[in-house]
Amino acid sequence: MPKLILDGEEIEIVPGTTVLAAALSRGRDIPHYCWHAGLSVAGNCRMCLVEVERSPKLVIACATQVADGMVVRTETDRVKKARAAMMEFFLINHPLDCPICDQAGECRLQEYAVEHGAGRSRFVEAKLTLNKAVDIGPHVLLDQERCIQCSRCVRFCDEITGTSELAFFRRGERTVIGIYPGRPLDNAYSGNVVDICPVGALTLKEFRFATRVWYLKNTPTVCAACARGCNVLVAVGQQQVLMTTQGQTDDRIKRIVPRPNEDVNGHWMCDEGRLSYRTLSSAPRLETAEAPAGTAADWDDAVARAAALLGDAARAGRLAAILSPRLTAEDLFAWRRLLEALGGGRIGVRRIARGADDALLVRADKGANSTGAAWILGESATEAAVLEAAARGEVAALLVVGDPLDSADSAAPDPAVRSRVASVIFVGPFVSGAAEGADVRLPAAAWAEEDGTLVNFEGRAQRVRRCHLPRGEGRPGWRIACDLAQAAGGDMPQWTSSDEVLEALAASVERFRGLDATTIGLLGVSRG
Ligand code: SF4
Ligand code: SF4
Ligand code: FES
Repeated sequence: MPKLILDGEEIEIVPGTTVLAAALSRGRDIPHYCWHAGLSVAGNCRMCLVEVERSPKLVIACATQVADGMVVRTETDRVKKARAAMMEFFLINHPLDCPICDQAGECRLQEYAVEHGAGRSRFVEAKLTLNKAVDIGPHVLLDQERCIQCSRCVRFCDEITGTSELAFFRRGERTVIGIYPGRPLDNAYSGNVVDICPVGALTLKEFRFATRVWYLKNTPTVCAACARGCNVLVAVGQQQVLMTTQGQTDDRIKRIVPRPNEDVNGHWMCDEGRLSYRTLSSAPRLETAEAPAGTAADWDDAVARAAALLGDAARAGRLAAILSPRLTAEDLFAWRRLLEALGGGRIGVRRIARGADDALLVRADKGANSTGAAWILGESATEAAVLEAAARGEVAALLVVGDPLDSADSAAPDPAVRSRVASVIFVGPFVSGAAEGADVRLPAAAWAEEDGTLVNFEGRAQRVRRCHLPRGEGRPGWRIACDLAQAAGGDMPQWTSSDEVLEALAASVERFRGLDATTIGLLGVSRG
């Protein structure tokens, strides 16, 4: 393998690697704007200039491939002077919007100005004034003055979505970024251009002025809005002494951004997944135990009532359950164990399908854990089979465990079927759908409110993590299954953590053997 001497350190590099990629892979940063790991090399910002021995001029690290014996220096006086000159150039027309710019706190222009800038400007002429807050699509606003013309957003629309909505217009110092007349940036992945814009030129309407980024707590987790399971960072507001009443905790999700995983989503995510968190706060939540629906009940009383209904039906051989395909593997396993502990019953998994698979990430199957459900419960465990049995009058008590992400997908059984079922016990985070008219309702944790495992459509087991506390009395589904088993006198372990449930699952279901939170890690494990 070629050997590169980088600032005096000899490193072995895979042939074809660029100097910039080699440096980044060793934890050394060479400042860069236009280069992005998921896009082609443009080489137009000139921020990554480095010195290569025997080369008369400085070269750009993002477009220079390593060669055996190459000697690169990234911190010489010549390099530092070039970087300072580039920073001075970038800042000629850039407005001083930082106090109101959403990019503040994660702006490459701010960061590099501090780390590599000269700290002064010789520019005395008036700055260019360009269009601000231009509405270029359903989710994205453009501030032309802030653009440093790195072309990342243009390349994203050309190379990743193939939709080419963005382009540069005019020439020279008058060059601006924009859209063609009548062709908005409305592809299904438009939010990604905001993530990759290194400055605040492109902002997401849904996040604009929502908070300062230094008040956010980021948790690495997995999107549960379709069977792809894109890796994401969920940002939750932290206690904001200056922005809210002192002591008040703002624990709502403020934004979701993609987390790179070459085996799942590359560097991207779709807009639907990005904005899926909004349902969690906008849809009516079930916050306390209710028995019957609409009447608040003590948790233990509601659990005892549900356990009695489920136990009676099981003894009569007329118990059934319908589970969401978005539940974690731990939840699905616990519900299976509950029915076994009560003496058995039918289990069916809902199928949530919308639209079609696209060529990039989106899957028509909105069940983030459809594959895990099939592994744990079997391919034949379908909602249709349970509903057919109910229509034949073979179900006395129906347990419905609803969707933890989307209230619209927790559908109520057909009224004709419902009339043949004596009692419905609902467990879930929302009050709509199957929760309406249930005999007992128990609040469950929603997505981002519990730890667990999801298996994507390619058989990759990944971890979804708790980003904030559940609302009201909500608790993880596996915990509620344990409560019900205990109240019904069923033989089921009283697990105290999702890790314990995963351990039991791994010991029971072959596909999960050997898995735990550590082996799954941040990027998941393929079990396909
Ligand atoms: S809008 Fe942002 S990503 Fe697009 S060219 Fe300008 S600085 Fe780069
Ligand atoms: S493609 Fe699916 S998993 Fe990925 S962000 Fe979109 S909805 Fe979420
Ligand atoms: S990152 Fe190398 S020229 Fe822009």
